[in-house]
Amino acid sequence: MGTIEQIVKQCVEKSDSRFDLWIRLAKSTKVKNMAEVGVYRGNFAAKILQGCDLIEKYYMIDPWRHLDDWNKPANKNDRNFEKFFSETKEKTSFASDKRIVLRGKTTEVIEDISDGELDFAYIDGDHTLKGITIDLICLFSKIRVGGWIGGDDFSKTVWQHSPNFEPTLVFPFAVYFAEAVGANIYALPYSQFLIEKNSTKSFSFVDLTGDYNDVGLKSQFNPVKVLQLKATEAFSLVTDFVKLTKS
Ligand SMILES: C[S@@+](CC[C@H](N)C(=O)[O-])C[C@H]1O[C@@H](n2cnc3c(N)ncnc32)[C@H](O)[C@@H]1O
Repeated sequence: MGTIEQIVKQCVEKSDSRFDLWIRLAKSTKVKNMAEVGVYRGNFAAKILQGCDLIEKYYMIDPWRHLDDWNKPANKNDRNFEKFFSETKEKTSFASDKRIVLRGKTTEVIEDISDGELDFAYIDGDHTLKGITIDLICLFSKIRVGGWIGGDDFSKTVWQHSPNFEPTLVFPFAVYFAEAVGANIYALPYSQFLIEKNSTKSFSFVDLTGDYNDVGLKSQFNPVKVLQLKATEAFSLVTDFVKLTKS
């Protein structure tokens, strides 16, 4: 085993998808106890449980219900979420002795996990500023020193789902969080991030993609830019409508 940074770089170089990347990282760092926040249809959980024999305990945190205060495209109705819950249980039934289902929002179930219990947590839930703030703060104390928090939707643009939805703020908030708690954070391909909870409480931001030069928000919230995005969206709606009426 090399240094943590070498391990991360090797996994990044060899991986061809986000699933492959996390399987490699979980295997190289011998993850046994982990949690996933935001499980949805169980695709990530199934792949990780299939790919990592060493995992003994896999907490699945998700309300699997419609949330009135979550303005994101994945917020479906209760009927759909009930189907997604069944789908998740079916897809991960081969690992039923390892999974622990915590059905609820992070804040509703987090105390079912003990402090320092986790080697790894994967955050892929509510990606708004409110969501990522709550998830990082709630999960950090649950990770042992030397463990990890990874996550999805480390999006270069806060307008990941167009200006009709609440902005995605995993980036740059996760970078600010890492600086506040004294942790190393890596920007990874496939819009992923990794925070290493180290014993020295040192902060660094290692960007392995070269995409995250500006950790401020001024340019992203520039009113001209937002208007341009709105105009592009309106234009594509009009062209879609014209195509529909012609067909
Ligand atoms: C993008 S999906 C997760 C996809 C999944 N991780 C995968 O890779 O297959 C987001 C999920 O986050 C869940 N979610 C939204 N708000 C949440 C909250 N406050 N706490 C926990 N989960 C939440 C939603 O119910 C939804 O299932």
